[in-house]
Amino acid sequence: MKKLLLLLSVALPLLCHAQEQASASADRVWLNTISSPDGQLELRFTLTDGVPFYMLARNGQSVVLPSRLGFELFNHDNLDSGFSLKDATTSTFDETWKPVWGEEAEIRNHYNELLVKLEKPAEAPLLAGGKRGKDADVMFIRFRLYDDGLGFRYEFPQDNALTYFMIKEELSEFAMTGDHTAWWIPGDYSTQEFNPTESKLSQIRQLSDIPHKRGGWPFTPFSPTGVQTALQMKTDEGLYINIHEAAVLDYPTTNLNLDDSRMVFRTWLTPDAEGVKGRMQAPCKTPWRSVMVCKSATDVLASRLVLNLNDPCVLDDTSWIHPVKYMGVWWEMITGKTEWSYTYDYPSVQLGVTDYRASKPHGRHGANTANVKRYIDFASQNGFDGLLIEGWNEGWEDWYGHQKDFVFDFLTPYPDFDLPELNRYAHEHGMRLIMHHETSSSTLNYERWMEKAYQLMNQYGYNAVKSGYVGKIIPYGDYHYSQPTINHYHYAITEAAKHHIMVNAHEAVRPTGLCRTWPNMIGNESAMGTEFRGTIQPGHTTIFPFTRLQGGPMDYTPGIFEMDMSVTAPGTTGRMNHTLCNQLGLYVTFYSPLQMAADLPENYARFMDAFQFIKDVAVDWDKSVYIDAEPGAYIITARHPKLSTLNKASESTATLPDGKKDVVNNATKFVYALPDNATTADLAKAQPHDVWYVGGVTDENAREVKVRLDFLKPGVKYEATIYADAPDADYEKNPQAYTITRKKVTAKSVLKLRMARAGGFAVSLRSL
Ligand code: NOJ
Ligand code: CA
Repeated sequence: MKKLLLLLSVALPLLCHAQEQASASADRVWLNTISSPDGQLELRFTLTDGVPFYMLARNGQSVVLPSRLGFELFNHDNLDSGFSLKDATTSTFDETWKPVWGEEAEIRNHYNELLVKLEKPAEAPLLAGGKRGKDADVMFIRFRLYDDGLGFRYEFPQDNALTYFMIKEELSEFAMTGDHTAWWIPGDYSTQEFNPTESKLSQIRQLSDIPHKRGGWPFTPFSPTGVQTALQMKTDEGLYINIHEAAVLDYPTTNLNLDDSRMVFRTWLTPDAEGVKGRMQAPCKTPWRSVMVCKSATDVLASRLVLNLNDPCVLDDTSWIHPVKYMGVWWEMITGKTEWSYTYDYPSVQLGVTDYRASKPHGRHGANTANVKRYIDFASQNGFDGLLIEGWNEGWEDWYGHQKDFVFDFLTPYPDFDLPELNRYAHEHGMRLIMHHETSSSTLNYERWMEKAYQLMNQYGYNAVKSGYVGKIIPYGDYHYSQPTINHYHYAITEAAKHHIMVNAHEAVRPTGLCRTWPNMIGNESAMGTEFRGTIQPGHTTIFPFTRLQGGPMDYTPGIFEMDMSVTAPGTTGRMNHTLCNQLGLYVTFYSPLQMAADLPENYARFMDAFQFIKDVAVDWDKSVYIDAEPGAYIITARHPKLSTLNKASESTATLPDGKKDVVNNATKFVYALPDNATTADLAKAQPHDVWYVGGVTDENAREVKVRLDFLKPGVKYEATIYADAPDADYEKNPQAYTITRKKVTAKSVLKLRMARAGGFAVSLRSL
């Protein structure tokens, strides 16, 4: 990624300030200390004149300098000073848990914990019956220290002078030791659809307005030095620090506001429509704040800190949740080849009043029965599990930009979309349709219709929904990341679980590891995805695994083979900034259990040999190896498929009334080396091969890389199929030039590969 070189005139005084702070931390008396299980990280806590402070060190060197903790409240004494320490306890925890889907089969959750109990005198509340409650505000702070970082949260027990209280601001600070390099997007209350910027912390102020000009809408920036979580940084000494949040429920998402005279970040919560940043009722707790500390970029990719800080899965039965590889009647609308809407007859439409059958169709409606059948044919022939169809329901004529309350009913198809027949046809072909619920951010309206909408899905056998939150939130004045809207997203997930529905929400709040607790949350967009086409800069996808993906998978919608938009949608202009092999690499470097092949069937039909990799690649893993990486530059990852979930999506289709039983999806065929026409009976008799996939992506710089295959089983021969940028490939001049080579390799082999500018590679490996 291009480095942004600006004059660093402000940086030197700042560093001196950081050094002063560092020496101040040495003088401070620390009341409590815990170490990480491996002893390398140390967390210290103290009260200085009643003000809570923490700091974090690695091998004796400060990572987070003494930083304040607390809250500013409405109509109540602030929780920022006057505290005394009533109790402090430490404990150790060590478990290994199995995610329903993920980057590996097992995750170790091992930490040492410090719980400090703080009190400050307060007026005792009058309880019912005339008794008085406790005459102190009670706030606990729970710290968990892992080998790869710190988590802390605030807790408010019931026996408390605080009962109902409203947060003006959370005052958690993260004092950095210097002017680190950061990969950031600007702070905002409603969108994170921005290209990330790489710069020094001291440069954020000068650069903060630039990303707004190339991102989504609506914008609600609040500070020139505001940035969003997850924030990836790197110190001059090469330490990787990542600040994020975990388990954000019934509380707003936070931004981080940088005081760039001191290099101190402070939480800046998203307000609700009345400016309140959290309406609390004790007993309650806040989300976790996390500070990941890693010595290498690949350790950041391997960290499960955010997932570990979330609660275990609450669903007893998860057998209906499975990974999905899908196509969609989607890119043709995004590129302008067809449209979501049905007619141009009306300046505005009213659901239940507008008679679509009496209107003249404009003839550009993508979600028509014949076109959807064409996609089902192509997707089922190529072993996909699902097909998304957008624009199937009435209301798209004026869905956007009007803050219209009753914008969709999520039930009524357009006249040319035969919902029962298309589901029957999909099931007959061993696939399921994926539902689309664009809410236009009218969360009120969605909640009114949600139960009926999920029932309709159950009736026809849809088991996954892509939802969307484009535009400003209704209720008016609220934001995408405020407490009430976060509660809405969560309500959609929990209600969906009752109907055995998996959810992939676009424009919703960035995920914070909640998929551990609610694994039917199989995807989110919550970042600038492929839909932004030529706006996306090269190098973009080398940053997200460090930032956005730390909280959960992204529906990035990769797989665009035709980079010239005028070919896909005649009459339009623009180009994508990547090579074809870069898109293949993303299926491995970008983890998601819900992975799309986003381009049109006719574009894939021109490159069927390269499309084979997308067909073969799995989407759920029992092992991941992060071979080499640097944020904003490149990522090389290898993954091993999880056999137990391989054919789940198509297996479950067999239970549908019109389902065709003999369906084996394509990734399963690759692992079991089965022919195209294989049936489930063939699968039952077959033995799996040992299979790995390797992917690489680079920024705007071409790179030669050496990939050691030492993760393969020793002494075993594999056939490697290598999809690589051709020597003359280049994202601007020749993005579709690739080579496919096959060779025999072992664990001792080293592959020499070249990635073109904004290029990449993909390798599938199958034991012989
Ligand atoms: C924005 C989503 O990100 C995109 O995928 C979808 O097609 C449109 N909204 C319409 O819902
Ligand atoms: Ca979007």
